[in-house]
Parts: sequence; C-alpha cells; structure tokens
Amino acid sequence: MEGGAKALAFQQRDIGGKMDSEKTKDIRSTNIIAARAVSDVVRTSLGPRGMDKMIQDSKGHVLITNDGATILKQMEVIHPTARMLVEISKAQDIEAGDGTTSVVVIAGALLRACQDLIEKGIHPSSISEGFAVALNKAVEIIESMGQPVDLNNRQQLIENAITSLSSKVVSQHSDLLAPMAVDAVLRIIDKENDTNVDLRDINVSKKLGGTVDDSELIDGLVFVDKKVSHFAGGPSKITNAKIGLIQFCLSAPKTDMENNVVVHDYTAMDRILKEERKYILDLVKKVCQTGCNVILIQKSILRDAVNELALHFLAKKNVMVIKDIDRDQIDFISKTLLATPVAHIDHFTADKLGTAGLVEEVNAGGERKIVKITGCPNQGKTVSILLRGSNQLVLDEAERSLHDALCVVRALVKKRSLVPGGAAVEMEVAQKLQAHSREIYGSDSYCVRLYGEALELIPYTLAENAGMDPINFVTELRNRHIAGERYAGLNVKKNTILNMLEENVVQPSLVSISALTLATECVRMILKIDDIVLSR
Ligand SMILES: Nc1ncnc2c1ncn2[C@@H]1O[C@H](COP(=O)(O)OP(=O)(O)OP(=O)(O)O)[C@@H](O)[C@H]1O
Ligand SMILES: [Mg+2]
Repeated sequence: MEGGAKALAFQQRDIGGKMDSEKTKDIRSTNIIAARAVSDVVRTSLGPRGMDKMIQDSKGHVLITNDGATILKQMEVIHPTARMLVEISKAQDIEAGDGTTSVVVIAGALLRACQDLIEKGIHPSSISEGFAVALNKAVEIIESMGQPVDLNNRQQLIENAITSLSSKVVSQHSDLLAPMAVDAVLRIIDKENDTNVDLRDINVSKKLGGTVDDSELIDGLVFVDKKVSHFAGGPSKITNAKIGLIQFCLSAPKTDMENNVVVHDYTAMDRILKEERKYILDLVKKVCQTGCNVILIQKSILRDAVNELALHFLAKKNVMVIKDIDRDQIDFISKTLLATPVAHIDHFTADKLGTAGLVEEVNAGGERKIVKITGCPNQGKTVSILLRGSNQLVLDEAERSLHDALCVVRALVKKRSLVPGGAAVEMEVAQKLQAHSREIYGSDSYCVRLYGEALELIPYTLAENAGMDPINFVTELRNRHIAGERYAGLNVKKNTILNMLEENVVQPSLVSISALTLATECVRMILKIDDIVLSR
C-alpha cells in the first residue's frame, strides 16, 4: 500500500513535473495527524452523555470539566498545528461561548476528509477551495433551518440554555441555572434594540458551602470574600444606605521615601500620636459630613487602607465598613450603585455617594458570611449571581457551565435564530451537501461530498458516547433526513430519533454557524502549509 502510493506519486510527478515533494507530503500528513490527535481527545466528551475529563496540573491542582475550551487550554499541546485546534476552540469560546467541543471534532473530521482527498490526488489548494464552496452552502442550509427567536419568549430562551447545560456535570441543576442565566441577561438588555450583551455587567461570584440549588440571582451586589468590619462593634445592617466608594486610605500618611523618625522624649511621642489621632478624626468627620453611612474601601498595596483608629471612629459614628475591595471590582460597583469612586478626601462630596435600600451581612452557612447590597438604583443595568456548591470542583464547573449558558443567551441576542440540536443540523447539512455535490463538477464535487460526509461524525459521536450503536443510528438518521424530516435528531436521553424542535432540544444558529466556519478556516489553513521552517 505504502509502496503503491509512493510509486503513484512518483509517476504523477514525472508526468506533471510539479507535484509535491515527499517532504511536503510528510509535513502535511504529520500536521494532519497531530491535529487529529487533539480532536480525538475531546471527542469523547461531546454531547449530554459525553464523558468528563479530570485534569491535574503541575502544581497538583485538579479540575473536572466537560468544556472543550477548558480541556484544551489545560493540555500542553506542543505541535504548532495541533495548537491551531486549541486556538479555534478558544475563538469559538469568545464568539459563541458554546460549541467548543463540536468545533474541534468537526475540524478533526474535515482533516480526515482532507487525507482521503489528498490520497485521491486532488491538490491541497483545490481542496481548500472546494471546502470554501461547501462552507458557503452549509451556512446557507443552516440559515434556512433557523427558527426566529422572540426575546419576550422566556421559555424558548430557557430551552436553549438547558441544551447547553445538558452536557455538563451540573446538568441536574439546569432547571435552576438555565432560568437564572436567561433572567440575568434579560435584565440587563434592551430587548428591542440590543444586538450584543456585555457579560461584564453580570457579576458571577462563588461561595463554597450549600449546594448548587442554593445559588441565587441578586439584584445588586454581593461580596463573598469581604467581611463587614466588626472592629469596635460597627453596624452590620444598614437600611437606606448612602454608600461611599473610596480609593484613598483612612490611615496615617506615609512618606514617599523610606524614612526614619527617631523620637527621644515622651512629649514628642505624645505629640505624634495626637497628631495622628487628629488627622484621622478629621478624615472621618469629613466622610460623615456627607451623610455617608456605608463605606467601601479599595485595597491598598502601599499601606493599610484603613487602620484600627479609623475603624473605631467610624464604628462610633455608626458607619459600616467593607474593606479590601479589589481594583477590578470598582467599575462594576460604581455602575451598580451609581457611586463615583473617589481618590482623595477633598473630592469626597455628597453627590459622589451611591444609594441602596439595604446593606446587610448574612450568614451563608456555618462560619461563612457574605455581604449583600440590594435595592440599588441602577437595577436593569447590572446583576449579580451567587453560585454555591458543596466542593470547589463542582463550584468551578458550575461557573464554567453558567458561562456557557449565559453565552448561549447572548448568542440569541446577537442573532435571533435557533436551530434544532442533537445533530439534526449537522445531518441535514451533510445530506444536503452530498446531494449538492452531484449537481456540480470537477474536484469541487468530490470535496463537497467528503465535507458533507465528514459532518456525519457529529451524530456518530453523539450516538457512540451515549452507548448506542452508532452505525445503525447514523444510517437511520440519514434516511429520515433524505425522506424530508429536516428536524430529526438523536435524542440521546430517550435513545431514539425524534423531531428535535418538538423535543425542545434547540441551540442558537450562531453556535452552529460559527463552529463550522472556524473549523473550515482552520483546516484550510493547515492544508496550505507545505513546510515547517524553524527559526531562532
Ligand atoms: N438532549 C439532547 N439530546 C441530543 N443531543 C443533545 C442534547 N443536548 C445537547 N445535545 C447536543 O450535544 C452537542 C453539544 O455537546 P457539548 O455541550 O458536550 O459540546 P459543545 O457544546 O460542542 O462544547 P462545550 O459545551 O464544551 O463548549 C450538540 O451537538 C447538541 O446538539
Ligand atoms: Mg455545550
């Protein structure tokens, strides 16, 4: 076989005089093999019955996930073309959020088709062009299958979110997480006009303890790792809060350079302490004059953002203190509370304060406490989600899964169209492309046919991962599609082929279109590489 192929190549080179060299062929095939190896790794985690991966990094941290992008990110892939697959998975994560496993599986299948086409003697540039033709046609077919989405139809959005959650470890909680993701997005968008969602306006916090079922959507803010300062018995609940967000320190000033002050007698010492006391009292008075009764203090790396004396005075004035706010939380807090962050005491005036109905420290089970701020004026622009979980692994995976669900809803806002899941789209495209290939001529016809066939790997894998007989199911599904059942797909939970729209297994069109586009682009790029040059 090997010898035969070589002989054929030799013959062709003799005739055409411009055939690829053996080296080019070797490079192309190693590239394809390396990239396919990556695709094979994630293939087993596709679909609701797919497997999860446990990943341990060099420091011994373990994570369990089903998310394609996360698995690939953690794998240390060295081969440059294999890394391209990792990149498309990342790109899909950014563009659509879901479908990060599918995109890699499709790319793997297309690469296999390339191998077959190259063996048939079709030149890689022709294959690349053929694939572009196939992609155009495929996108056309997916668009024609799309069903319009109405953002006022909450139930429809929830079904999309459920499909994306169904393959995750936390899928049994999807009846809680899916509506949460949908409500969170619906709250921050203008349903009529918005064409994108800024997910930074949804703050997801995690707190260990309880179960995923205890997770909640909070109209306002929640601090899970910050505590109200109880020094000197300050308040831990304030209604009608006027909230100051400060970036300066409530502690004695420090010199810019390293300095030592040597004090020799007690009177001088007393003076210093008195001066410090006066300085801090002055700051606290200015803060209280504005009517501020809750103060959020940004963490400072130079010195203590707030010292005990300041805490003591603030407690006396009945001002609640939450310290150590991270710099990257400031934007979100300021947007939610309509508070302006203030960097110097002289600028701290009443108009910079934000307001909230209630600021309260609540128990989160056991010793754990969280701070909730609710009744915020800017409701409808930001929202917080508090995730709970009994262990860190579940909690982290819940966060990643929720991210997928949020992205699915975002994808529907971006492109208001949905398609049936369960490989109905892939099979329909596969079947239509194979039919189309009979209407066109030349190498394109071959390429389009094999492109179509390659997509059948998705239903094949879904069935295989679910423990069904893949060949039977794929042939049956193909026949149904040929008979005109466009929305037939594999319901892997019921182990049958059903109309996926009726089963409410739906996903955004954007996810399918983006997966096909990215996979095809990547494969075309890999095909065009004919040499690897090492540079220093
Ligand atoms: N109930 C279901 N029945 C049949 N197929 C389903 C069902 N729910 C989801 N699917 C299919 O499972 C596939 C998605 O699987 P999965 O979520 O594991 O991978 P992904 O979305 O490609 O990647 P990831 O979620 O890791 O980013 C899609 O093809 C989808 O149509
Ligand atoms: Mg998914």
